[in-house]
Amino acid sequence: MLAQEFIRAKRDGAVLAPDDIKAFIGALTDGSLSEGQAAAFAMAVFFRGLEQGETVALTRAMAQSGDMMDWSHLNLPGPVLDKHSTGGVGDNVSLMLAPLVAACGGFVPMISGRGLGHTGGTLDKLDAIPGYNSRPDAEHFKRVVRDAGAAIIGQTKRLAPADQRLYAIRDVTATVESIPLITASILSKKLAAGLQGLVMDVKSGNGAFMPTLERAEALAASIVDVAKACGLPAAALITNMDAPLAPVAGNALEVSQAVAWLKGAREDARLREVVMAVGVRMLRLGALAASDEEAAEKLAKALDSGAAAERFARMVAALGGPGDFVERPEKYLPVAPVQLSVPAVQAGFVDAIATRALGLVVVELGGGRRRAEDSIDAAVGLSGLALPGQFVERGAPLALVHARDRATAEAAGARVLQAYQLSAKAGAQPPLIMASRG
Ligand code: URA
Repeated sequence: MLAQEFIRAKRDGAVLAPDDIKAFIGALTDGSLSEGQAAAFAMAVFFRGLEQGETVALTRAMAQSGDMMDWSHLNLPGPVLDKHSTGGVGDNVSLMLAPLVAACGGFVPMISGRGLGHTGGTLDKLDAIPGYNSRPDAEHFKRVVRDAGAAIIGQTKRLAPADQRLYAIRDVTATVESIPLITASILSKKLAAGLQGLVMDVKSGNGAFMPTLERAEALAASIVDVAKACGLPAAALITNMDAPLAPVAGNALEVSQAVAWLKGAREDARLREVVMAVGVRMLRLGALAASDEEAAEKLAKALDSGAAAERFARMVAALGGPGDFVERPEKYLPVAPVQLSVPAVQAGFVDAIATRALGLVVVELGGGRRRAEDSIDAAVGLSGLALPGQFVERGAPLALVHARDRATAEAAGARVLQAYQLSAKAGAQPPLIMASRG
């Protein structure tokens, strides 16, 4: 079928045939399709949607557009599992969960992305570790997964290249927020990674791409159903992103906090709740526990014994980072030259936080990108963030800004202050785990 006829069919609301979808994705991958045609297709899907069968065909075609990883020849003594978050602020769950699940017997080949919009990216966080190679070749990646149980790396050129091309086009044509396109984009990479189980953490709230619970539920259902139709067992949790998850946001700051958490500093109950809930689903999907209680016990033991921290250390060293990184992260992580406290102007309970605005403060400090080609400043960000329900005295800090210079620190501090709403009475907080699927 001619590309323009294929696009016209979707524009007019027709259901596309799997073979035509495959041919279209083939042309997208080999470059014979123009950027304009790919963009027109994305916009047609944005408005017309896709039926589940079409999304399955699109996902499979994009997964098969490059290498498909196969773990069978390694005879791994456990299931190949992964989790994926749709993105948020202060969401460093992957850094803790990958080694934690590895310590419980799973193997986690995690292919993660860079920051997108106001959200942070796991890859940018790990790139804050000197020497860490987030782009190893396939053999090195497999060795690290086999030996450390987990490896977190970036998408290579050979993994789902059709998604790489289409994603870059969607990013600049206002076609990111399409449920079938997000589904196919995420799952194509996960299928190509050869997983045996996937848990999605779909974020909902004012710091998420899916602001309403209804849209988050629709995305969770789409991902779980399409994954299963493609032969990948999957489950999803919808978790609240009306506030940063960790009390920090920024690349080196989130790595430092994750390492401290793995080593035993676990004062933040919200973070623990999400790590544990997603971890339980992963162990159950991989048949590493027979009940949720057993899974939670296993995870707690792996944390408390230091086994999860040890897996993180092994992963970092195997990917070229310092051998003593977990013992002494402060020796290696960059520190911003200016630190400025943001005092509350009145006493009160933290009632609401404009989370997206906090994510944008980190971007403006240099911790995220304004354009795709920008480099980022790993040292900057926010720490000590006051979290929902917390009482803050007048003059006590709402956050600490980490910046390159005083002027940007002060501008960021003013925006942080605006992002917080305090009230005299402690308001009811929404549940952190809002719904689940699969
Ligand atoms: N993350 C992805 O990998 N793809 C999307 O489309 C959105 C988020």
